[in-house]
Amino acid sequence: MTDLDVTQLQTELAGKNPRVILKSAFAHFQNIAISFSGAEDVVLIDMAQQLNKAVRVFTLDTGRLHAETYRFIEQVRKHYRIDIEVLYPDHAALERMVSQKGLFSFYQDGHQECCGIRKVEPLRRKLRTLDAWIAGQRKDQSTETRRGLGEVQEDEAFSTAEHTIIKFNPLVNWSSRQVWDYIEAYQVPFNELHRQGYRSIGCEPCTRPTLPNQHEREGRWWWENANKKECGIHAGNIKADS
Ligand code: ADX
Ligand code: SF4
Repeated sequence: MTDLDVTQLQTELAGKNPRVILKSAFAHFQNIAISFSGAEDVVLIDMAQQLNKAVRVFTLDTGRLHAETYRFIEQVRKHYRIDIEVLYPDHAALERMVSQKGLFSFYQDGHQECCGIRKVEPLRRKLRTLDAWIAGQRKDQSTETRRGLGEVQEDEAFSTAEHTIIKFNPLVNWSSRQVWDYIEAYQVPFNELHRQGYRSIGCEPCTRPTLPNQHEREGRWWWENANKKECGIHAGNIKADS
């Protein structure tokens, strides 16, 4: 769609509080949804629900999430009394890959192929139906790939000649500490894995707890280079920084 001047909006939103960014996102778009990973990005749902009772939320079920994450997604659904749309990979592509390469091919081949099937394709399918989406990524999650993030951007990875998709990153400037202060202050439910030393949470075979002196991203795809630690759903991060 859009006649929106994204550069101008980015200038207006630069450095603003997550709530202001969310408010602006809802003011500009009705056909918009939050992409919820089942981790501390739950704060987005908490804030958004206060601004927009009809907030739409979806999650990408890769089939490889921790049991704790599945339970948490269900807890969030009940706690906020919202529907959470759960998206699944294309079964034929998944069966082909797993039959040919096994269930842990990412340790040998890298995570791109598996993430491509389990996350990127379902996301692409969903984004075709939306005008804008809201993600919980933050600059402090990766100095390698996320330091250049803005509050709002045209999502070049998922836009097509016919359909522009806009992406909002309301938590972009918040630190992990600010997110956790919010969770504590407002008694927001959180994923049990955080009590077990997990800070960044993705799929079970590709996520591990981190030590206090490690960066949270070291718990993700630890067998790969830091500058490759993007699964493709935020592909613009790699293009911008490499
Ligand atoms: S990832 O690309 O490395 O997996 P990360 O875990 O940092 O992403 O999460 C950043 C944001 O990406 C989340 O706040 C969420 O908006 C989106 N996201 C990541 N994983 C998922 C998922 N499985 N389902 C829906 N959204 C997700
Ligand atoms: Fe596959 Fe790991 Fe990517 Fe999950 S994070 S989709 S298991 S490679």
